[in-house]
Amino acid sequence: MRAIYYTAHGDTEVLTAGELPTPPIESHQVLVRVAAAGVNPIDRRLRAGELQEYISRTFPVVPGWDFSGVIVAVGEEVEGWKVGDEVVGLAFAWSVQHGTYAEFVPVDATAIAKKPPGLSFSDGAALPLVSLTAWQSLAEYGQLREGHSVFIQAGAGGIGSVAIPMAKHLGCRVYTTCSAGNRDYVKALGADVVIDYNIAPYVDALREHEPNGVNLVLETLYGDDISLNAIGLAKNGGAVVFMNNEPPAVSEIDERGLRSTFLHHRADGAMLAELMAKYQHAELPVPPVEIMPLADAREAHRRSESGRTRGKIVLQVATDL
Ligand SMILES: NC(=O)c1ccc[n+]([C@@H]2O[C@H](COP(=O)([O-])OP(=O)(O)OC[C@H]3O[C@@H](n4cnc5c(N)ncnc54)[C@H](OP(=O)(O)O)[C@@H]3O)[C@@H](O)[C@H]2O)c1
Repeated sequence: MRAIYYTAHGDTEVLTAGELPTPPIESHQVLVRVAAAGVNPIDRRLRAGELQEYISRTFPVVPGWDFSGVIVAVGEEVEGWKVGDEVVGLAFAWSVQHGTYAEFVPVDATAIAKKPPGLSFSDGAALPLVSLTAWQSLAEYGQLREGHSVFIQAGAGGIGSVAIPMAKHLGCRVYTTCSAGNRDYVKALGADVVIDYNIAPYVDALREHEPNGVNLVLETLYGDDISLNAIGLAKNGGAVVFMNNEPPAVSEIDERGLRSTFLHHRADGAMLAELMAKYQHAELPVPPVEIMPLADAREAHRRSESGRTRGKIVLQVATDL
């Protein structure tokens, strides 16, 4: 099969276009012919050799977890899915090898959902990882509801672009950060207060609006000061979700009755189906998606590494779906 893969960690140049054997499936999996593959920061971080203590590799590694496509084979234990079903999903694994930047990907049947007919394959591939992560942060862990307040760091990125509308959908007041060029974009997503982090320290700006802090902080950046600030910005009894690291070891968390966690997304097909229904019925907007050919995977990783992408990048794998 056609695939993008790497045989050693390194910069974008290790990404190679070539032929690999079509991967086998296990009895609880389906084989999907990939229409499109979503690009996420984790793809290039794993390629660069980060996070080896958590996620192992079997080379050659095909990067990518997000996908949309069509089922072409079904494992003998799988129920409820058949060849020809159009699906979206998350081919997450703690040991990466068979990713989604390829013609075919094996994936656990519990990690897929039907692609709604009104949603394109490219939009479908953009959504799973960020949508599941944001919903598990805001609705599940954060328990956000009508009248709550939330600070979503980096509103213009993949997570922010789905988290802001989700928080509005839950009835919350939304604060977010971005650079000047993304102000109108995050406003259009529904952010109530936009903080340009280049003009003033975001901590001070947020405190002016919410002196007692917000119900939930969704921290997408990392660094010691950033983590401590995130804790400081939650109100007593509130919650802080970290996307990249464990909470800092500070007594303030217990003293102020905070809940805090490093939330790693769960590849939950049932939850993904509920979220797909919300996108289908326009209860949630699909973020802007930039489509690039699979052959441009190196350029897609370079753009992701710039830290400046807005919305999502998707690689088109099949041109006939
Ligand atoms: N734990 C999990 O399961 C999980 C799941 C998904 C993602 N993540 C992590 O969450 C983080 C965000 O992911 P993502 O997909 O949203 O990334 P992304 O799409 O690459 O984020 C790019 C955005 O970040 C913004 N940005 C960059 N520096 C900023 C700053 N200092 N302040 C505010 N905004 C800034 C940029 O907007 P401007 O140009 O306006 O600054 C840009 O729009 C990544 O570290 C990723 O690895 C974790």
